[in-house]
Amino acid sequence: MAEKLATLSFSDGTPSIDFPVLTGSVGPDVIDVRALYAKTGKFTYDPGFMSTASCRSNITYIDGDQGILQYRGYPIEQIAEDCSFLEVAYLIMNGELPNQKQLGEFVDIVTHHTMVHEQLMRFYSGFRRDAHPMAVLCGVVGALSAFYHDSINIHDARSREISAFRLIAKLPTITAMTYKYTTGQPFMYPKNALSYVDNFLYMMFGTPCEEYKPNPTLSRAMDRILILHADHEQNASTSTVRLAGSTGANPFACISAGIASLWGPAHGGANEAVLKMLAEIEDAKNIPAFIKRVKDKDGHAMLMGFGHRVYKNYDPRAKIIQKTCHEVLEELDLKDDKLFKLAMALEKVALEDEYFVKRKLYPNVDFYSGIVYKALGIPVAMFTAIFALARTVGWIAQWNELISDPDQKIGRPRQLFTGAARREFVPMAKRK
Ligand code: ACO
Repeated sequence: MAEKLATLSFSDGTPSIDFPVLTGSVGPDVIDVRALYAKTGKFTYDPGFMSTASCRSNITYIDGDQGILQYRGYPIEQIAEDCSFLEVAYLIMNGELPNQKQLGEFVDIVTHHTMVHEQLMRFYSGFRRDAHPMAVLCGVVGALSAFYHDSINIHDARSREISAFRLIAKLPTITAMTYKYTTGQPFMYPKNALSYVDNFLYMMFGTPCEEYKPNPTLSRAMDRILILHADHEQNASTSTVRLAGSTGANPFACISAGIASLWGPAHGGANEAVLKMLAEIEDAKNIPAFIKRVKDKDGHAMLMGFGHRVYKNYDPRAKIIQKTCHEVLEELDLKDDKLFKLAMALEKVALEDEYFVKRKLYPNVDFYSGIVYKALGIPVAMFTAIFALARTVGWIAQWNELISDPDQKIGRPRQLFTGAARREFVPMAKRK
């Protein structure tokens, strides 16, 4: 087939120029503009990457108009129904679903790397007890690079694999320790007899005084939440991990950068912001006034948990999590939960309101995840930390893909400079 080309012409007399058009397996074609500056001395301008593909990737595919999300080709609806989180982690990292033996080996490796170095525990006492868990997580995960010098040779595939296992295995321990530290309870060592999710819940909620009994419905809900958050192609935090990784930084430092990026309320921090918003609205009778404030763009009020850069039809994860939310509230006999009812009423009003309809704003994954977390007994400040735990799988797979990509270069955007052009320095005595 003849090479597809895109022709760019200029009104200033610069000769027109052809660019190759690259075609992926699915999704929009991509115009390869890498030669633009060399050939024309011009840059492209695309703040927020509205029209820019920053890399090639085989991992996750999203069609925002149709509400499609696929991990390695498998629809999220099927994956969330039938897989465990570690099965999904294997798929995302290796490209194929594991057979029983492969999964068994993978789970075994993760299970046997969940403990953290005893000295890492001392990092916690350097933080105030009321520190935000994401602040603690950024610091402690970044500190892992000081403990694992043996696995930070990024050009060695085996070292990268070891780092990946360490991160996936230790994030639940580190996250749960973050919670325990804020409550003043003792850290709980991981228990190898438990599944990944049950072990996490045990380290969060267990104490040395009592036996912890996992609840299968709640464990399944947590597992599903982790699956839904495992990867989401080139979102802000993943792009942060890739940008940090493009400099050759070690994986622990890169994941710490991703955690920092995830923290923002426009990204992973939205789950926490949703609960704060619902608490502020307090009662269904206050919904119209809140919606009016949002529409008037009064004081930056936003309907948190609504809207997405890519999904302009619906977020498929939101549908799954709404169902999970029902199951959890039913199990805990919280069907009449005030917050859940308020969220549903708010969603209904927004979905019927012209402002949201016109802008194609739909609930995203975080509109309901906070309600599930809350029902599971997880404090609001921990929500984004759990998102980080899940997304570590996607980050590490995307980082690995970046390092293995022959097209990989240091990420270095250019700019449209609008500041002062060259001018002569004015000595202090002559300044007005
Ligand atoms: N509430 C009210 N208005 C909104 C919202 C919202 N949640 N989201 C977007 N809009 C409005 C914007 O003000 C804008 O209106 P305008 O055309 O009158 O100026 C229009 O919709 C388009 O919005 P953009 O900001 O251009 O959309 P963008 O793709 O840049 O932003 C984002 C997407 C950041 C997710 C945004 O919708 C948002 O901040 N939502 C709330 C926070 C949230 O839930 N984030 C979680 C995202 S999912 C995740 O990270 C896991």
